[in-house]
Parts: sequence; structure tokens; C-alpha cells
Amino acid sequence: MECDDRLIVALDFPTSEEAKECMRELGESVSYYKVGMELYYAAGNEIISFLKQEGKKVFLDLKLQDIPNTVAHAMTVLSFLGTDMLNLHAIGGRKMMFEAAAAVREASVKEGKNPPKLLAVTVLTSMDKTQFDDLNYKNTIAEQVIALASLAKEAGMDGVVASPKEAAAIRKACGKDFLIVTPGVRPVGAALDDQSRVATPVAALKNGATHIVVGRPVTKAENRRAAAEAIASEIKGV
Ligand code: C5P
Repeated sequence: MECDDRLIVALDFPTSEEAKECMRELGESVSYYKVGMELYYAAGNEIISFLKQEGKKVFLDLKLQDIPNTVAHAMTVLSFLGTDMLNLHAIGGRKMMFEAAAAVREASVKEGKNPPKLLAVTVLTSMDKTQFDDLNYKNTIAEQVIALASLAKEAGMDGVVASPKEAAAIRKACGKDFLIVTPGVRPVGAALDDQSRVATPVAALKNGATHIVVGRPVTKAENRRAAAEAIASEIKGV
């Protein structure tokens, strides 16, 4: 079966052994993996090198946010690992995003490599209205997502991480070449876990997502390979 780069499987595991076992089971059915805080803090750069040696694409999802200088330097170091996508929090602001983008691209030019795609996280897909209201923003979730996506674009980001529910509005606001990576994707009948603003893989792509991130519906499935292949065949032709 042909691999679909639009499907990114989240390797949310506490050890590299468990992540590698999952990769072995998925074999050729998945070409793009997301390494998040749990696995990266446990397994470090070794797991990134392993994924790259296996010929996989890597989205390193560490959601950085700090002063602009710190984030710019940290993102540069992470780009040297050969990652294909990196991200930061858009609420870190215009200057933080701008300096991170400039630093990563300058370092890649010096190395003679393509820079990784840089994404900004808008509003976490686990946030519902009650939790969002606690933060006292003047915008609704939908308005805040668009405001942050537009800011990210202006600051030089390649795209955003957002809920599939907001993908269509982001596409409209940010134009056709902007990457929209959507977690909170649940195949029909799958458990929601702690996600709130979810959609099916097909709906996410039809709404304008360029990539879908799927974790537990694949990694916790009895037959992981069958679960990944089912999503790949579901999205074929969409
Ligand atoms: O298991 P599940 O499919 O919910 O995994 C979704 C993955 O996407 C998790 O690794 C989570 O950290 C990540 N993520 C998210 N919402 C965001 C950004 C990343 O759920 N806004």
C-alpha cells in the first residue's frame, strides 16, 4: 500500500523501545511521525536519528515559547537534527516567531539544507469553551485561532497547528500555500479521549487541512497497522 504523507502518526510513548515497536508494527504503512514532549524528553535526539535513518519524516512537536532569542537558538539546534517540521506557540508573539523563522532559515542556508517547515500552535484542540473562558481573552476560540494564524503568517511561519473545525476559516484567512496541521482527528466511532474540537480524517482534509495528526486511534488500536491503513484508504482521493 502506498504511503500518504498527509497522515502523521503521533508517537506518544514514554520510551524509545515502545515507539520503535509501534513503528515496526506500522512498517511501510506510515511515512510521517510526530515526536512530542513525552518521547523527546525520554529518548532525546536518538529517536529522531532513528526515524531519519528509517527514512521517515519527523514533526518534532515541542511547542516552544520563551523570549525571542532563546526560542530562535533552540529552534536552530532542533533544525540541525534533520527534522521536517518544528513548532512553537503563536502566543509567544510576532517577534518570537519572526526571529525563530529567520534564525532557522539562515542556519539551513549555511548548512546547504532545506529548512524544516515552521508551524505555530494556535489554540490547543483539547480546549473547550469553559477552559478557554478561564483565560480571559477578549476573542472567542474561533476568533482567537484566526487572529493567531494571521499573525503567524505575517511573522513568517509556514503554517499552523489547529483544530480541524477551524481549518476552513484559516484557509480563507491565510491563503492556499499555508500549511494547516490538524490534531483532534478521530475516525468514525473512535474514542474522543481528551480531545474536544474533533473531526474525521476526511472532514479535516476537506476543510482545508494539509496534514492530519492521529495518535491514540492508531497507537492504542489492537491492530495498529490495520488502523493506519484504514485511515490511509479513507483519505485516498480526498
Ligand atoms: O492521541 P491523539 O490523536 O489525541 O494525539 C494528538 C496529538 O497531537 C498529541 O500528541 C497532542 O499532543 C498533539 N496536539 C494536539 N493539539 C494541538 C497540538 C498538538 O492534540 N493543538
